[in-house]
Amino acid sequence: MVAAKPFSPSPTDDGSLYESLWTQDLGREHGFEPLVVEGTLPANLRGTLYRNGPGQFGQYGTRYKHPFEGDGAAIAVRIEGGTATGAARIHETAGLKEERAAGKVLYNFSASWPRRVSNMWRGRVKNTANTNIISWQGRVFALVESSRPTEIDPRDLSTIGETDLGAIGRSFSAHPHRVESRKAVYNFGVEYGRVTKICMYELPDVGAARKLGEVALPGPPMLHDFIATDTHLVFFVSPTRIDVPRMMLQIGGFAEMFTWKPELGTEVICVPIDRPTEVVRFTTDAFYQWHFANAFSRGNELVVDYVRYPNFDSFYDIGALANGGRGDSALESGQLHRATIDLTAKTIRSEQIAERSCEFPTVASGFEGREHSIAYVAFDNLGAIGSIDTKGTIRSHALPAGVRGTEPVWAEGYLLSLCHLKDRAYVGVYDPARIPDGPVAKIWIDHHVPITFHGSFAR
Ligand SMILES: [Fe+2]
Repeated sequence: MVAAKPFSPSPTDDGSLYESLWTQDLGREHGFEPLVVEGTLPANLRGTLYRNGPGQFGQYGTRYKHPFEGDGAAIAVRIEGGTATGAARIHETAGLKEERAAGKVLYNFSASWPRRVSNMWRGRVKNTANTNIISWQGRVFALVESSRPTEIDPRDLSTIGETDLGAIGRSFSAHPHRVESRKAVYNFGVEYGRVTKICMYELPDVGAARKLGEVALPGPPMLHDFIATDTHLVFFVSPTRIDVPRMMLQIGGFAEMFTWKPELGTEVICVPIDRPTEVVRFTTDAFYQWHFANAFSRGNELVVDYVRYPNFDSFYDIGALANGGRGDSALESGQLHRATIDLTAKTIRSEQIAERSCEFPTVASGFEGREHSIAYVAFDNLGAIGSIDTKGTIRSHALPAGVRGTEPVWAEGYLLSLCHLKDRAYVGVYDPARIPDGPVAKIWIDHHVPITFHGSFAR
């Protein structure tokens, strides 16, 4: 047991905290080492919290143009017997190894113009593995939506390498969703080409991964997340359009690759898991979403909880963060909504559940794909952790000044949120029934951890 030695957050200017989260590289790489625990960890809490995000925002004197281009890094915090150990490591992907050998940036929008042309002709993309990290059949994979999974060694977070799991095409989104009743995880990848298509996959608890089918799209969108019920996979394809020639040649900056075209509307696509060719699809008024909380089937309806934005401005505000801007305004415009889709009438009705801005919604284990009563979220642009029930009742814990939280991850009856300070981080362990009381324990990481987007808990 490591002696509890709490740290007090220094009164950090929030702007500089924000800048450090989105621009300052991971403070230190290391394998599992003892971590300081403040408070008392629940005796029955056992397992590993994995978090993933950009760990390096540039190299060899070149800054990447958008945080989404950062080289991925994982944080793992392993809890057992009331103690905790932690590891942190940048993923040494094939592209990063190549750049380290060359001593310069070779990929993405920061590479030299001749190199970008050469990358296009040779179909070379850097798999940054920087968005999520999951465990499947005892193996651990870091994910980014533009590429295949990158397998990580859970013993020390070292990088094993890219894998297609025997079934995956060119890409695998960073948002797999479990459906408890089907004992499987579902995911998709968008493949851009003459015809852009969504490819759908099933990763069962036992047995091999398989491709379920594919759906052609009318244009090349940015599609970040989807959701699954026990009968359907549901996609809200917002009218973001990727400029494919720009993407191929990597002209300009990352953010300039996307155009918001509200006149096209948002396409709702519902795919029956057992009959994936019998797709129901229709278009509604334009909106955008990054993330879904959960969904379930109810007769001939699908009920979908998600964080809705009026437009795509939040994407540009994230880019502004890397350039010294606050980027707060549009990030605070997302609200939890409940959409009801009528599969026969091909209609969607969406109602706001709560007015307070939130992001990174999750539900308790066991409720994925079936009716839930509570979503867990980060409120107020990562300034508070809490819950929203389906009646709109909010329970929250405001984080101290100088601290920003992240997606609350369900862990054996508790909620874990990696909270970032300017020069260190902690995992807040919350009792879901007593969130406003604050965390029952904090597990401290003694170095800077840049923003982490997503993660998961594994036994
Ligand atoms: Fe995401």
